[in-house]
Amino acid sequence: MNFPSPRDLKDLKGKRVIVRADWNVPMEGNALVEDYRIRRSLPTIEYLRKKKAKVIVLSHIGKGKESSLRPVVAYLKREFDIGFVPDFRTQEARDVVAHMKEGSVVVFENLRIDAREEKNDPALAELLASFGDYYINDAFSASHREHASIVGLPKLLPSAFGFLFLDELKHLSMALKPAHPFVFVTGGAKVSTKMPLMKKFTRLADTVFVGGALANNFFKEEGMQIGKSFVEKGTFGLRPLFKKKNVVLPVDVVVLDKTQNRAVRRADHIEKGDRILDAGPATLRALEEVIRKAKLVVWNGPLGNYEEGFEEGTDTLLKILAKARGKTILGGGDTIALIEKLKLEGSFTFVSTGGGAMLDYLADGKLPGIDAIIKKRTRK
Ligand code: 3PG
Repeated sequence: MNFPSPRDLKDLKGKRVIVRADWNVPMEGNALVEDYRIRRSLPTIEYLRKKKAKVIVLSHIGKGKESSLRPVVAYLKREFDIGFVPDFRTQEARDVVAHMKEGSVVVFENLRIDAREEKNDPALAELLASFGDYYINDAFSASHREHASIVGLPKLLPSAFGFLFLDELKHLSMALKPAHPFVFVTGGAKVSTKMPLMKKFTRLADTVFVGGALANNFFKEEGMQIGKSFVEKGTFGLRPLFKKKNVVLPVDVVVLDKTQNRAVRRADHIEKGDRILDAGPATLRALEEVIRKAKLVVWNGPLGNYEEGFEEGTDTLLKILAKARGKTILGGGDTIALIEKLKLEGSFTFVSTGGGAMLDYLADGKLPGIDAIIKKRTRK
């Protein structure tokens, strides 16, 4: 498939280009916890600035209208001059954009201050489109959302994907036509969000390792004792996955026992008062062995309960992946913070900016934000 890039947008000098970025970064108060998504979005903005376009950046931050992009703008001001519009529904916004200089950048406040964004209201898309001549989607990590700025805007303006977005597609598509042996490692707590991927990768991968609290659901389904361990409630159709020879579960786990002490147990020797909270050492050694032989490893989701201080399984896995000879693709949740904590930056083939978007793209090979641009082009 041919994905249009910023290079396909002609005569950029003096043009107003709307860039939908995803600057929804983790914050502590007004301080950024990490800036990976922001850094990754800069090549597109730099390219447009060099071409003397007028760049209008749109993003959401946080879950609703409460959070502000102001701290992100303050952070970026250390790198280049960047304007800020506190409310894009005002005459002030029109005036700021009308007076933009060629090569300058303006950021609009959190799109979710307007409820029409998440409702994909065409009126908001029209308002936003009136500020631009072109639209670029560089918000891969938000492109699983059918929101006005993701699927509405490309209906109204000539559109392309940004360099961050194209890089995501290039690397994540490696998992859709994988080199073998291919190992898929998944963890976290929610079976419901991981089920489509587990199903898909039992067909594509040589090994699907299921860790984290996801494994508890499998153990329970198999009738094993899991004590007081967390399981997501619901029926997920796990049965057929048991039959697959390539699905691998932990052979041992770290538990907190009834006296609140940590202990390592065989997965089939869990006691009634135990809570399973991490992968055990024998499991990690077995995982290291399969990863060592793999040509491609994709990982999404922690192996242990990080919030309660069970970090060892996930940290060990990251160190194993950092040494792997095959290609390594990582993503999801707090991956970046973990990589920084362990000082493993630059040790992996690719680290996705996507959480939910990465899962959906790997499961379906498409996203609403991709279709919105591609379908429009094929309709022409
Ligand atoms: C993310 O962090 O996954 C994206 O920014 C999307 O955010 P959302 O889950 O709040 O839509």
